[in-house]
Amino acid sequence: MRAVDLIRRKRDSGELTAEEIHQLIAAYTRGDVPDYQMSAWLMAVVLRGMSRPEIAALTEAMLFSGRVLDFSDLAARKVDKHSTGGVGDKTSLVIAPIVAAGGLKVPMISGRGLGHSGGTLDKLESIPGFNVNLTLAEFRHVLETCGCALTGQTAEIAPADKKIYALRDVTGTVESPGLICASIMSKKLAEGIDALVLDVKTGSGAFMRKIEDAENLAGLLVETGTRMGKKVVALLTDMNQPLGRKAGNAMEVAESIEVLGGGGPADLRELCLELAAWMFFLGERVKTLEEGKKLSSDLIASGQAREKFREIVGLQGGDVGVVDDPHRLAHARQTLDVVSPGGGFVSSIQCEQLGVACVVLGGGREKKDDQIDPGVGLEFHKRIGDAVVRGEPLCTLHYNSDERLDEARRLAETAYRMESEKPKFLPPLIYRVIGA
Ligand code: URA
Repeated sequence: MRAVDLIRRKRDSGELTAEEIHQLIAAYTRGDVPDYQMSAWLMAVVLRGMSRPEIAALTEAMLFSGRVLDFSDLAARKVDKHSTGGVGDKTSLVIAPIVAAGGLKVPMISGRGLGHSGGTLDKLESIPGFNVNLTLAEFRHVLETCGCALTGQTAEIAPADKKIYALRDVTGTVESPGLICASIMSKKLAEGIDALVLDVKTGSGAFMRKIEDAENLAGLLVETGTRMGKKVVALLTDMNQPLGRKAGNAMEVAESIEVLGGGGPADLRELCLELAAWMFFLGERVKTLEEGKKLSSDLIASGQAREKFREIVGLQGGDVGVVDDPHRLAHARQTLDVVSPGGGFVSSIQCEQLGVACVVLGGGREKKDDQIDPGVGLEFHKRIGDAVVRGEPLCTLHYNSDERLDEARRLAETAYRMESEKPKFLPPLIYRVIGA
């Protein structure tokens, strides 16, 4: 196998055999194919697409690049949730402790920031000391002890995704249904779960902007999981505006703690309850979704979900003090309000631009080895349909350096569209459910 031949074939819209895909992924994971060749192949895939058999082969090759975990000796059902990514999407931090507090096991393998979207691992690492690089033994120990463990791809679990994910983040090669499917499912199928809830985002801040593309991706994910014997459901949810009021790693941890404490923004709370309810339902902990939602609210109201979060943080080496006092998290030294140049109603938001603004402030990576600044981010004051008067803040930038502040400000300012009439259509939180 010569990598250059496979790149040229995909460039020319050809199809690769399963054998060739397996060889390419194995060679890249070993370090025998360099980043520049893999980047070229990934870009050819983004532009030319992959057939169903190619996607299946890629998912399998990435899954079996590492170990597939087996927790069948643990009595409770194992369930997980994964999002295709968006701005301010922090639901994993809330849902994982809720579902573990409700008696199911949540072995969660997550990713870092990807393109303009934030990542669970970067968010968790903003908690001082929190270790997201668990060995298999540590992963099992934390899962057995408290019902939930949160880790990243490692040299042992989904190593191919670990390398390819970091490359896609900085090479403009995220937006491919096949690559997203292989990336997500190679992690999720390695977890030893019984059931999986997928949150497939659509809208201006999602990788699949058009609803038809998101539906296609959801179908692909559900089909892949079902073929591998898992119970899978995909919720198609809105990403035409940020989820919650905050984007940025430490700021999102703080907002998640608010939700676990019974507060937080309504949209974030509602989506967390819905996703957790599906996990309880697929995990056969409840008989109906209504029961699942009630259980989730009760676990928040009783403080058990927040306590579970504290337990996870402690077991993974993090500073548990942040749970009672989120001010212990990193925060930016300075803030700047981005104000509205005119009055009216917010009619739409170019949500991706808000995510890019966060990256530009240092909240994400533009090159593979960039260091994240955990304290920076954006706080959102206006949602679609809100009335705005001239000079009123649309959002606030939290920053530590002036260097690219103007760029971030411009991105944020131009992300909001105004009209004189209140928009008739407000995006719903959830469009539809696929695979139920
Ligand atoms: N989440 C992942 O794990 N991978 C992707 O490609 C997109 C979202």
